[in-house]
Amino acid sequence: MKTIGYAIVGTGYFGAELGRILNEQEGAKVVAVLDPENGETIAKEYGCDVETDLDVLCGRPDVDAVIVATPNYLHKGPVLAAARHKKHVFCEKPMALSYADCDEMVRTAQENGVILMAGHVMNFFHGVRKAKQLIAEGAIGRVLYAHSARNGWEEPQPEISWKKVRAQSGGHLYHHIHEVDCIQFIMGPATEVTMTGGNVAHKGKQFGDEDDMLFLNMEFGNNTYAVVEYGSAFHWPEHYVLIEGTEGAIRIDMCNVGMTVKTKDGREEHYLVHETQEEDDDRTRIYHSTEMDGAIQYGHPGKKPPLWLHSIMKNEMKFFNGVLHGESVPDEFKPLMTGQAARAAIAAADAATLSLREDRKVRVEEITGGHAGQ
Ligand SMILES: NC(=O)c1ccc[n+]([C@@H]2O[C@H](COP(=O)([O-])OP(=O)(O)OC[C@H]3O[C@@H](n4cnc5c(N)ncnc54)[C@H](O)[C@@H]3O)[C@@H](O)[C@H]2O)c1
Repeated sequence: MKTIGYAIVGTGYFGAELGRILNEQEGAKVVAVLDPENGETIAKEYGCDVETDLDVLCGRPDVDAVIVATPNYLHKGPVLAAARHKKHVFCEKPMALSYADCDEMVRTAQENGVILMAGHVMNFFHGVRKAKQLIAEGAIGRVLYAHSARNGWEEPQPEISWKKVRAQSGGHLYHHIHEVDCIQFIMGPATEVTMTGGNVAHKGKQFGDEDDMLFLNMEFGNNTYAVVEYGSAFHWPEHYVLIEGTEGAIRIDMCNVGMTVKTKDGREEHYLVHETQEEDDDRTRIYHSTEMDGAIQYGHPGKKPPLWLHSIMKNEMKFFNGVLHGESVPDEFKPLMTGQAARAAIAAADAATLSLREDRKVRVEEITGGHAGQ
């Protein structure tokens, strides 16, 4: 088996672990990293090179693919550099903080004939995959409505992470794009979006400037709808995706972790959200401990992701490495590889942002010119 050479750009909490996972995969080796702060340390740990220039890194003949795990506002530069050097790319979520940037990144990858995979982890959850399968089989009839919440309470911070700064993370909506992406995978791209909310309880030096309460209302046509809540001004933590159909409903709970399918005859079936009961229980424990802060986990390159997330990261990297080795892409993951999922997610987020700013309902076409989800 040929060994694919990987470069990691951004070796913080997530990128460093993605690299460790890749180094354990058959036919994969991280050959170089680039990170102004943590690059040297991680290169030493991996036993690989450290580079300081993106073009030099991406131009290396031993680099076949680039993993981009920089802060959200710094995804575009490395993605464009990798694609222009005809290297495949895996980019962490959110792909970009504007539809225009996302579109440019996807188009550049396409023009250069390389894969650009969006790191939308929820699609690899056992429960999400099962839910999509059950919905396709008609288990809950026609999907009418989805409701998701990703809420917690943020305490004052000693230092303000980029994850709390709107211009760097995009705020809750972009940083936690997973739920919007998951709902659009199930219901198709939203056609109209309305968002209300604001910063209601987290102003001042010990907080970032993101809105801590956001209420997103999505319309899909055909009388189908979704409502998504995000924020860090909620003392009652909640994290779930609920899908309502004409014949039943599915609730994927990521706080008291488990998935329940309710059918018309009143029957309830239970499924795992993650791969094992141990992973589900561990995630429940984390949600009910002090490790979460306003529905967000902070990390650093030495911090180990929780069990459930580690196993998802492994599946994601195994999938990406497999595709680069010529494995075919199952239909359920195709939108992650074509730019469709990233475009649809960022278009909906941009439409919501415009709606909040201008206090009106926004057609997603205003953002995409009619191309999102293509
Ligand atoms: N899918 C998930 O569940 C999940 C979870 C956590 C993070 N993420 C994503 O991973 C990415 C990184 O998040 P994180 O938690 O590792 O953050 P982090 O702050 O721990 O790491 C970011 C790293 O990027 C480095 N960096 C900053 N500017 C850079 C530049 N110009 N070039 C190269 N490196 C640079 C920093 O030094 C730092 O080491 C983000 O896009 C985030 O949204 C995804």
